[in-house]
Amino acid sequence: MKIVSIVGARPQFIKAAPVSTALRKQHHELLLHTGQHYDDNMSKVFFEELGIPRPDINLEVGSDSHARQTAAIMIGIEAFLEQEQPDVVLVYGDTNSTLAGAVAAAKLHITIAHVEAGLRSFNRTMPEEINRIVADKVADILFCPTETAVRNLANEGIVNGIYNIGDVMFDAALRFAPIAEQNSQILKRLSLEPKSYLLLTLHRAENTDSVQNLGSIVEAMVQSKYPIIFPAHPRTVKLLTQFQLYEKLIGAKNMTLIEPVSFLDMIMLEKNAQKIVTDSGGVQKEAYFYQVPCITLREETEWVETVSDGWNCLVGANVEKIRSAIDNFLPSNPQQGHYGDGNASEKLVDVLNDLF
Ligand code: UD1
Ligand code: UDP
Repeated sequence: MKIVSIVGARPQFIKAAPVSTALRKQHHELLLHTGQHYDDNMSKVFFEELGIPRPDINLEVGSDSHARQTAAIMIGIEAFLEQEQPDVVLVYGDTNSTLAGAVAAAKLHITIAHVEAGLRSFNRTMPEEINRIVADKVADILFCPTETAVRNLANEGIVNGIYNIGDVMFDAALRFAPIAEQNSQILKRLSLEPKSYLLLTLHRAENTDSVQNLGSIVEAMVQSKYPIIFPAHPRTVKLLTQFQLYEKLIGAKNMTLIEPVSFLDMIMLEKNAQKIVTDSGGVQKEAYFYQVPCITLREETEWVETVSDGWNCLVGANVEKIRSAIDNFLPSNPQQGHYGDGNASEKLVDVLNDLF
């Protein structure tokens, strides 16, 4: 079977790593990189470190407004799909690359498989929510990571082509953790003792694009008594600078702002953090997988199981709630194992084999 997998943003490279490995044992996979993320530390490092096959094409669309970026990706994808005529197009998650891939393939009547289908925040002001809803609506095969995702789709009347295979990010978290333990030098490089610091990531539009929210988060972090390691997304650096918050943040004694790190370094930073403070979808789950308490800078989450199991708390951009969670949030409940058995990638391939 000929499959075109579409990736473009950091979390999609990580999701594609275990899936590509499983797919290529039996099928002909072509990898299309949209170029949505392009800095070496947002893209190239993941391909090199995780052994992801070199993309067959990079559209190099770069950054732009939502409509212009999505349109540029669609134009490039359409041409590639017309040339390659694959049996299946695989799209991941909820970025503009996902939306563009799903819509372009649907118009060409190519079977679409959506990995991470059925996730909902029920907040339509998030660009990701729009992207997910559209991708799920046009997809033929919906690979759900959880039972909640299956239910969300059923509530929207989507009941055919649904497979709960577990979460491919759990596969990646399990498979790359031992390699990270062996190879990563990040703790040594930053002179970090295990469980002595907080790990911060921040990039959601609702936080970065609002001076009020970004200001509140900066305030809460610089007031904290704990050392903070902050691998900063380029979007966030840009807006911190624009809102004149950058100097305040990096001037704080407890703050270590660093460039985005590789996945192996990120795993080690996550596993050894006392707590993780984040608005990332992937990082919330990795905190759960590695049993590190997670404080989420959002009002809602798609990954509701991390909250219902007691390992994640939602604090929004509220200074008092953030501070209180940093000081007091201490989960100890057993986890219910909602994200599969670490073999979602192989299950995905089994489903495709059965269908074709
Ligand atoms: C995108 C996804 C988001 C995902 C995130 C993962 C959409 C709408 N959003 O958000 O769902 O959680 O990726 O990280 O698709 N930039 C660089 N270098 C890069 C990439 C981005 O400098 O390599 C800067 C540019 O200023 C750009 C900004 O970051 O304008 C935002 O990038 P973009 O890809 O539009 O959105 P993300 O915030 O990365
Ligand atoms: N990540 C990384 N280096 C970093 C920050 C994040 O490798 O400096 C990884 C993280 O471990 C997770 C994924 O990137 O696997 C999450 O991506 P991101 O937070 O950009 O997007 P989201 O998951 O919110 O869509």
